[in-house]
Order: sequence, then structure tokens, then C-alpha cells
Amino acid sequence: MKNLLTGMEMTQQQALDLIALGKDLKANPAKYAQELAGKSVVTLFEKQSLRTRVTFDIGVNKLGGHVVYLDQANGAMGSREDVKDFAANISRWADCIVARVYDHKTLLEMQQYSSVPVINSLCDLYHPCQAMADFLTISQQYDDVSKVKLAYIGDGNNVTHSLFIAGAILGATVTAVCPIGHSPDAQVMKAAEAIAAENGGSISVTNNIEDIKGYDVVYGDTWLSMGDDTPLEQIKAKFMPYQINQELLDLTGIKHVLHCQPAHRGLDITSEVMDGPASLIFDQAENRMHIQNAIMLTLMKGK
Ligand code: CP
Ligand code: NVA
Repeated sequence: MKNLLTGMEMTQQQALDLIALGKDLKANPAKYAQELAGKSVVTLFEKQSLRTRVTFDIGVNKLGGHVVYLDQANGAMGSREDVKDFAANISRWADCIVARVYDHKTLLEMQQYSSVPVINSLCDLYHPCQAMADFLTISQQYDDVSKVKLAYIGDGNNVTHSLFIAGAILGATVTAVCPIGHSPDAQVMKAAEAIAAENGGSISVTNNIEDIKGYDVVYGDTWLSMGDDTPLEQIKAKFMPYQINQELLDLTGIKHVLHCQPAHRGLDITSEVMDGPASLIFDQAENRMHIQNAIMLTLMKGK
């Protein structure tokens, strides 16, 4: 594995190894305190971030390395200079590039012209670091993730796609419950289904909440992703029946709740559930740092 752009780069063993390393990084931080000494990571952001920006910065620091944060104020990629020159320059100085971009194609171009690993920290189609943190969080509750039934609920988006891919690799059952007209991308689903078939997993989409009765974990995201300027009022009535609330937990019997955040309390999730006993949401946010450190160590060692 050289880069992490879609998640499909990983074999099942590599995904399990990343989760195991993430857990060890979390349990034994002192063991890894110098692993990235003398190394630098550039984190590039075309979009806003709280969790991703902070977890990469503090995460690299905990491994003894150094982060350079670049946002649009430093010149939008492809506008002040070409993406390929951006990548070629940065890879002369840095040991790894982490990038959050609008268009997945930007990452493909960066990967082509970078001599150091490129990690996707969210694009229009994927959010692989998030999904790996999510399965690390799930694996802290369930010994065998291949037996877990995970229901994503809401807009079929980058997070949904990455949950499908990571779930398929790990042999889990992942169902997306989406309002009509908001299903995940058909091509990404097809690719995830092929991976699931190899690993004994299952990928599906429905708009019926009844279909996730008996599932283990329910997962939420914002109804409107960054870059989508649809007015909330236009979609609110359609999405409200898909809110994560106590009624949903009672109906389905689901025991654990995840949400990638940012959460919109009272919309995609109620405060009662987000702050309640079923919520693993802040463990999940913490685990972003541990899994990303595992990903960086693995990719940078492989280089
Ligand atoms: N979940 C997530 O990626 O959060 P940020 O957008 O705040 O980084
Ligand atoms: N789907 C959301 C995820 C945010 C972490 C977005 O792209 O804005």
C-alpha cells in the first residue's frame, strides 16, 4: 500500500493490521513517541475541518514529527500553480501529504506527481480515514467486526461510500438507509459489492427504516455535505424521518450510535442520543487520531 485515496488499496489483512496498530498506538503512546522524529507531514485543506485538522496535527506531534498546515489562503491548488507542481514541490520537502479536496481527481493528480505517500482526508467521493476510525471504534465493542451489522442513515455521500468500502473489506454487513433521491453513487456501490463478495460482507441500500431492525450500530452524518449549497429548508421535511433519535433506537433495538460529526443537534441526531449511553461518538472522534497515526506509520514505513 503506497497511498490511501479510496480505501480500496487495502487488503483485509492490511485493514485488520491498521486497526490493531491503531489500538496499540492508543494503548501505548510512549512506545511510538519518536517514530516520526525528523519527519514532516503537509496537511492541505480546500474545505473546512475541525477533527481532521486537529487530529493530524496533534497525532503527528505525538509521534515526534512536524506538521505544516496549508489552506486556501496559501493559494488554491491549481489556481496559483498546477496541482502537479504543488505535489512535486511538496514531496521534495515533506515525507507525507494529507489532502482534503473538492474533487477526487485532484488527489489522483497529486498521487501521480508525488514521490511521498498521499492520504485522502475527505473528497467528494471518499473519507477513508473516517471509515477506518469508525471500524476501530466498532472493533472496541465487537471482537469480530465481520459479524457486525452497521446501518448508515441519511444522505448517501463520501462517508457512506467509505463505510461501504471498509465494511466490504472487513466482511461486515453495511446498509445505507437513504431518502429517495439520496442514494450513494451506483459505481462506488458496485465496486464495494465486488469487494464484499470476496470477503463475505454485504452492502445494500434501502429507504425503509424497518429494514435495519436488529442491527448493531447506527451511523449518522450531516444531511448537507460541504460544498452542497441546497437550502436546509428544501430537504428538511424529507430527511426528518431519518433522524437518529430514541424512537429509532427503540424501533430497531440498535445498541450503539456513531456519527462522523459535525453533528447538527435536533436535525440529523438528537442531543438525547448524542449525549446518551448508546453514543460512541466522541470515542470515534478520538480514534481518528489513532487510526491516522497507524495509517501514516504504515505508509511512511513502506516508502
Ligand atoms: N469528521 C470529520 O472529518 O470532521 P471535520 O470535517 O471537522 O474534519
Ligand atoms: N459528508 C460530510 C462529512 C464531513 C466530515 C461532508 O462531506 O461535508
